[in-house]
Amino acid sequence: MSIRIKMLLSFTGMLVISLLFILLTASLYTIAATGDLQSFRDIYKVHYQINPLTEQGESIFQELKYLAKNDPDELQNKELLREYDMKLRAEKSGLYVRRESSQIFESLTFNQPELKQALPPYDLSNNQIRSTFNISERFYAYAKFDFQYSDGDRGSVFVIRERSPFAELTRKLLPVMSLLLIGVLIIANLLLYRWITRSFIKPLNQLRNSAEQIKAGNLSFKLELSSNDEVGQLNDAFESMRKQLHQSNELRRQDEENRKELISNISHDLRTPITNIKGYIEGIRDGVANTPEKMETYVNIIHSKAVSMDKLVDELFLYSKLDLNQEPFLFKAVDMVDFLEDSIDELRYDLEDKGVSFEWDNQTSGSLIASVDLDKLKRTVVNIVDNALKYMSNEPRRFSITLLADSEWITMAFKDNGRGISEEALPHIFDRFYRAEQSRNSSTGGSGLGLAIARQIIDEHGGFIHATSELGAGTTIYIKLKRLTNEEANISNDENSNY
Ligand SMILES: Nc1ncnc2c1ncn2[C@@H]1O[C@H](COP(=O)(O)OP(=O)(O)OP(=O)(O)O)[C@@H](O)[C@H]1O
Ligand SMILES: [Mg+2]
Repeated sequence: MSIRIKMLLSFTGMLVISLLFILLTASLYTIAATGDLQSFRDIYKVHYQINPLTEQGESIFQELKYLAKNDPDELQNKELLREYDMKLRAEKSGLYVRRESSQIFESLTFNQPELKQALPPYDLSNNQIRSTFNISERFYAYAKFDFQYSDGDRGSVFVIRERSPFAELTRKLLPVMSLLLIGVLIIANLLLYRWITRSFIKPLNQLRNSAEQIKAGNLSFKLELSSNDEVGQLNDAFESMRKQLHQSNELRRQDEENRKELISNISHDLRTPITNIKGYIEGIRDGVANTPEKMETYVNIIHSKAVSMDKLVDELFLYSKLDLNQEPFLFKAVDMVDFLEDSIDELRYDLEDKGVSFEWDNQTSGSLIASVDLDKLKRTVVNIVDNALKYMSNEPRRFSITLLADSEWITMAFKDNGRGISEEALPHIFDRFYRAEQSRNSSTGGSGLGLAIARQIIDEHGGFIHATSELGAGTTIYIKLKRLTNEEANISNDENSNY
């Protein structure tokens, strides 16, 4: 529920309660002042019609009723009637007996000349035994029984009890009612206040505390507030701001660490060949290479170290350009079967030269078009094949390229039977500078950039690259690229020709 609606409800609630309060007080005052309000009178009446006498009065009435049924003439015995009246007086009630139009007995308690006229007419079937009547401001409740004397005359016996008039009752009730109403007003006010404060003062306080925590640099807490109102929305916005700040802080921290690691790796990888080159040049300078053969060996070593440095610098340069998104990509629609066959033609010599038996398994038919940057994709394949050759130790050496496709994706699998990659190392081989064998000096080891570059390139193609491997049995690298439909391929080619 929104705060606007809550406020509206709370103010309306207070208004309605206050109005009710005013109305009730006003009506109570009216009754107190005039002593007359029909509906109140009715409620009052109904109550006394059901229950006009006290318990004791009721039992005396039952005795009189029994007498009227069994020995009606006794109800002319003034002595007896006075006795009953005496008993009734203790109950603040009185006795009245009539015979036809004359009055046989009237309790002194009443002292009311109009009483006779106010009494109900005879009704021998006794349909309404209990009822009320009033004489001007005075209000009476009674129980009555109609019977016949032995000579056939009609008679009635009444046990009558005077009740306080309405006005008096109301006057008595007024202070209690007023206190009650003020109590209701205060309680309603408190409840509504609590409802409103709980729904937005408290969450706002929590938000302020959170803002202070953020100011103090603590971003790892979580705001636990859930409501659908405006405060809830503010809280959601605040929480997503906190998350973003937290993430960007984390990223910054990671970037900083990466940068440090990068510098340390680069320095390490450059220092090794430079130290070697320096060593061999010093050897030449000091005349250690004193024969033409030695001199040739030294120069060859220096050359190969310079080549590996050149390769490293070249890889680093490419990686950093890819990382900074500064390497331009030139995409065009290429048939992947043609692409792989061309690449294989170039690689075949190298593979055969190293005694590797090679298998090309094209499990697709027809053309498989993907949008690729040819040079970059070739670089990826070269990096993968390089690794396969570099880490190949099992005889006979085997390497295969398999091409698979479904309607959406083209998959290339590069499988070798080399030494494989351990389970712990496998998730990291696409990280920059990562090498499964940690000693960076090993003769086979490169800089650990080949697969990182491959991943950057495939990511840029909107594809996926991953590896499966079994230690000692071999590794397979998979590249998945999005397959273009014929129409998409045509559009892509048109764009390129325009370009
Ligand atoms: N086919 C493979 N067989 C076994 N291990 C592999 C294979 N391909 C990659 N690896 C492991 O993954 C690591 C990362 O490979 P990556 O090509 O990125 O780096 P590198 O070959 O060490 O260096 P670079 O390619 O930069 O010369 C390698 O060091 C190697 O441990
Ligand atoms: Mg490599």
